[in-house]
Amino acid sequence: MPKHPSKKARVSDAVSIVAHQLKNPISVLYGYLEVLLSEEIGKLNKKQKEYLTDALKNVEVISKIVKDLLDVSRIEEGKYEIKPRETDLVKICREVINNLSSWAKASNCEIVFKKPAKLPKVYVDSSKIYYVIENLISNAIMYKSSGPAQVVIELKRKGNKVLFSCKDNGIGIPKKDFKKVFSKFYRSEEAVVLNPSGTGLGLYISKAIIQLNGGEIWFERNKDKGMTFYFTLPIA
Ligand SMILES: Nc1ncnc2c1ncn2[C@@H]1O[C@H](COP(=O)(O)OP(=O)(O)OP(=O)(O)O)[C@@H](O)[C@H]1O
Ligand SMILES: [Mg+2]
Repeated sequence: MPKHPSKKARVSDAVSIVAHQLKNPISVLYGYLEVLLSEEIGKLNKKQKEYLTDALKNVEVISKIVKDLLDVSRIEEGKYEIKPRETDLVKICREVINNLSSWAKASNCEIVFKKPAKLPKVYVDSSKIYYVIENLISNAIMYKSSGPAQVVIELKRKGNKVLFSCKDNGIGIPKKDFKKVFSKFYRSEEAVVLNPSGTGLGLYISKAIIQLNGGEIWFERNKDKGMTFYFTLPIA
């Protein structure tokens, strides 16, 4: 053991301890806000409802950051657990698109989903793959250009793998940043303006998840506009 552990390791330890400590207080806050908003213990006026809804949204943001930090520390320690089972990617895509649809609509963004009549199942950890698909589609919506936008999700078979793609016509990623895209905390200058609360951990975690499930993940800049992110997963 080195006498002075590297600065990087110490930061990582501190972050993971703090993230652990924050887990319980966050769920307490979340619980109380939900109870108050349900009006079970008293009727709320319009302003009170508005403030509490805003508070709940912010608790959700903090909760995602803490969960992501804990996942990063587990990935770095090689303790990130994958529980694979037969999984229907069409079903997961539908669920994610459904959950994001009202936000997409409000953002003037159309989501198109293309899939073959029959697609074999994959053998993966479905909740983790849900996270990857959700992050890719929310990135495509979040980092859109002004005006109407379109996101095309496609699933197809490629040999003994299933290929997922998510194509947008958004702000894109500058070429100079390509090497950093899957690094921890990477965010383009334009993305920080569009979404100040992002942490730049989604793609780092997604890459680890896809690799741990036996697949690959990559991206390209579209010829016209925006980005396409791809991943493959082995057929069950
Ligand atoms: N489809 C996209 N179009 C343009 N830029 C993108 C796209 N996807 C990712 N990026 C860039 O890559 C960065 C990292 O993405 P990532 O998903 O890791 O983090 P994030 O979305 O900023 O925050 P979070 O950790 O909450 O996901 C983004 O901040 C953005 O700069
Ligand atoms: Mg993201």
